[in-house]
Amino acid sequence: MERLLPKYFPFFTLLALTGLIFLLWNITSLESWTCQTVSTFYQLQNSIQSVLKTSEMLLPVEFNYSYCIHLGQEPSAEEAKEESYLLRSITWPEPLVLGLPLRQSSDPAQSYYMIQNSGDLLVGGQLVVKVQMQNFIGQPKKHGGDFIVARLHTPELGAGVTGQVHDHRDGKYTVFFPLLWAGVVHVELTMVHSSEAVMVLRRLREEQADRVFFKSLFRSRYLSETTVCNLCLPVKQQPLCNYTDPQTGEPWYCYKPKMLDCDTRINHAKGGYKKHLLTMYESQFFQSGINIKMPIHAAGMDNVIVLPASKEQTKENNLENTPSGYYYQGLWKPLGGVTMRQFNDSSAVTQCLRGKMVYMYGDSTVRQWYEYLVAHVPEFKELNFHSLKNVGPHMAVDSNHNILLRYRCHGPPIRFTTVYAAELHYISNELDALRGGSDTVVLISIWSHFSTFPVHVYIRRLRHIRRAVIRLLNREPATLVLIRTANLQKLDPESSLYNSDWFSQQLDTVLRAMFKGLNVQLVDAWEMTLAHHHPHQLHPPPDIISNMIHFILSHICPVRRKKRQS
Ligand SMILES: *[C@@H]1O[C@H](CO)[C@@H](O)[C@H](O)[C@H]1NC(C)=O
Ligand SMILES: *[C@@H]1O[C@H](CO)[C@@H](O)[C@H](O)[C@H]1NC(C)=O
Ligand SMILES: *[C@@H]1O[C@H](CO)[C@@H](O)[C@H](O)[C@H]1NC(C)=O
Ligand SMILES: *[C@@H]1O[C@H](CO)[C@@H](O)[C@H](O)[C@H]1NC(C)=O
Repeated sequence: MERLLPKYFPFFTLLALTGLIFLLWNITSLESWTCQTVSTFYQLQNSIQSVLKTSEMLLPVEFNYSYCIHLGQEPSAEEAKEESYLLRSITWPEPLVLGLPLRQSSDPAQSYYMIQNSGDLLVGGQLVVKVQMQNFIGQPKKHGGDFIVARLHTPELGAGVTGQVHDHRDGKYTVFFPLLWAGVVHVELTMVHSSEAVMVLRRLREEQADRVFFKSLFRSRYLSETTVCNLCLPVKQQPLCNYTDPQTGEPWYCYKPKMLDCDTRINHAKGGYKKHLLTMYESQFFQSGINIKMPIHAAGMDNVIVLPASKEQTKENNLENTPSGYYYQGLWKPLGGVTMRQFNDSSAVTQCLRGKMVYMYGDSTVRQWYEYLVAHVPEFKELNFHSLKNVGPHMAVDSNHNILLRYRCHGPPIRFTTVYAAELHYISNELDALRGGSDTVVLISIWSHFSTFPVHVYIRRLRHIRRAVIRLLNREPATLVLIRTANLQKLDPESSLYNSDWFSQQLDTVLRAMFKGLNVQLVDAWEMTLAHHHPHQLHPPPDIISNMIHFILSHICPVRRKKRQS
């Protein structure tokens, strides 16, 4: 026996090692085992990672955004002035008294509207609707702040337009609809949230800025660790890694791993959603089928007939807040700006895009455009760089027509599953790296992943993008830049707390104000989703995407106007 041992020693060692590796691998049970490809070395590394991971997530218990204010760059005097102007412009009316019982909060079922117009309604005119909000015991509300959205539509004509809601701050609201087509038009009013719910959302936005949290994997040789990351982290708990972007000063931090250095960060991912955000009292204001996205009914008629107008009457269309467009026969008709063209086959699209480089930056709602083009235009060949489908970066080319399409996600706080740290690029830095010119089209969509942060975070991000857009347009004024606005989405009690349309609407107001007056076109996803008959979804359905694409292509390849002689 004794003599056997030295002889078989290498064998036993190997056996023991294999056993250890198997054991460790079993603990992780994270990766699916594919015998041919996964190297034992990599498995071992992953095993050590999970063994060393002490607790799943080291979330800060108490989070107070005010510790974090100093973590970002101080805005200049001018920036601070703009910021306070923007924040004032989105001030939301508050209830007179806080903490009243649910029965005294707004109840869409008890509330009602009435069409005000009498007499003939003509195309080019305006429909006025008065809304009275009431509480659950049928008493009129005495304060404003309910989040109401409005649509006027004619199903048989595939026609729809949004209405402008004016809050009188006394429980009454007036809604203005432009009359843009002849036929029977139906009013549709929706209370997205009661004013009481909006107060809760506002509290969450200020006090629970980490309710979506992030994580990063750090790895070096055999060691790996995962820590929590965010725009701002309480400093007291643990040392931080500072990933503040040197070009823009955009802050980003992770807790420093215990054993690894900050420069071993491999990736970035959404960590998850914090739960139990609401008190029992607050959660009453978020009930599906009761007070989230519920219709407000008419007291009386909910539709009227609109008659065609004579030519002179049509001209006197000077509404105060004209919508940016409307649907007619399912097609988006912009009001002013561009004449819509339909690019109904793929060759029309490739003809339009011939010689263009189209850069898409942002969240998944701009990736939908990339995906739509690649799916509908067979000439586009996608290059596969083993990027994750949802994350990118993606690239497609049509070498016959010399077209390049690219998609890249925006930087942190991107909520995607896993993005390599090396792929975390800020849009403004990407724009600075573009030459620009008449062959360059830039499409930007950045909103959804900011809904859980205080608004100044979004203002700061847009300020950096705006500066980069101005620099780009200054270098090459012929560059076409289109920015997509936020859109409405499906809401339930849970998603409301992270992604409510109220958050999006606030961000959207800021976005519109910040790009006003620049040579930048807005793709009004808000109106295009609100005016459409499809139920609201974070990722609008193909019917809406195709209208957006036609709108974008109409900007890239505008109708050549014949010069009129006069
Ligand atoms: C592997 O894990 C399973 C449960 O996931 C457990 O039942 C089994 O005993 C483990 N095997 C080893 C060798 O640790
Ligand atoms: C956050 O901290 C600041 C200053 O430390 C304090 O004034 C404020 O009340 C705190 N907010 C919350 C919600 O704890
Ligand atoms: C992180 O780095 C930035 C820029 O290098 C700096 O301005 C900021 O103060 C740093 N943050 C902390 C907490 O040290
Ligand atoms: C596409 O549009 C053109 C005009 O824009 C029209 O002449 C043609 O019939 C359309 N084709 C299809 C298949 O709808």
